[in-house]
Amino acid sequence: MATEQASGTNDVAGFYEGLGQVLNKAWGENLHYGYWEDDADDSTVETATARLTDLLITALDPAPGAEVLDIGCGVGKPALQLVATRSVRVTGIAISEVEVEQAAQRAAEAGRADVAVFQYADAMAMPFADDSFDAAYAIESMLHMPDRGKAIAEAARVLRPGGRLAIADTVEIPPVGPEGRRVLDEICAAYHVSAFATADEYSELLAANGFVDVEIRDISDRVARTGVIMADAVAARRDELSRLSGPEPVDQYIDLMRRAAASPDNGYLVLTATLGAAARS
Ligand SMILES: C[S@@+](CC[C@H](N)C(=O)[O-])C[C@H]1O[C@@H](n2cnc3c(N)ncnc32)[C@H](O)[C@@H]1O
Repeated sequence: MATEQASGTNDVAGFYEGLGQVLNKAWGENLHYGYWEDDADDSTVETATARLTDLLITALDPAPGAEVLDIGCGVGKPALQLVATRSVRVTGIAISEVEVEQAAQRAAEAGRADVAVFQYADAMAMPFADDSFDAAYAIESMLHMPDRGKAIAEAARVLRPGGRLAIADTVEIPPVGPEGRRVLDEICAAYHVSAFATADEYSELLAANGFVDVEIRDISDRVARTGVIMADAVAARRDELSRLSGPEPVDQYIDLMRRAAASPDNGYLVLTATLGAAARS
């Protein structure tokens, strides 16, 4: 239950139960960036966001029968894409009861409630035994963790040695200029981001928690269109969305997304790693 949350996670839950639900209506149920193959690629947001999920599924490549953990599952769309394409069982966790309920409802509607289950849990203190999962992925949830190191340590604890971890996250690309810093700070304040990581911080955290074969793919160029399209999608439905949340957060969101999209100081990484056997010794 959502009663004993670590400091900061209440705000994140409130965000996803407030403006997050509003953005769902404009953007769709994949609450993450889209991936476009090249400048000529005119895929829809639905296709491009599903492609980003597919990138992580391909990177994890879970074997049939694998137990997979979705860390920060949103309303369940990526997990349902996973079970539609692979014979695995997925457990999704989120810091919002509302999201978890919606995810469970979508799984039931899709007839997949047997292989896609969702529960409220804090990724920094997971209610799972050691060695519970064969693979885990986190799509744009790590940026919200007040202690990202704890979340990665928890992922290492609940994965079996040899288990795969994939993380997709927005990051900062150093050195960050003054205007870039302003934009990053505003995003942190407005969207309950604890702090943006860098590729080096992720490498260090993964290694410190026993992960090996760390691969980092910078896909900033391929996802860059997301901010502009998101801002346009929200602007197109400004009046309708304003009725749900008031105009101020909607206008702030549009403005910030446009400035973030124009800033060279934020980027996007997909990281994959394997939990080494030494993690248990
Ligand atoms: C940007 S959304 C991404 C949702 C989903 N991964 C997707 O791609 O559609 C971030 C998610 O992280 C979850 N989250 C944030 N902090 C969390 C925490 N401490 N523990 C578990 N989930 C968390 C939120 O509840 C939300 O579902």
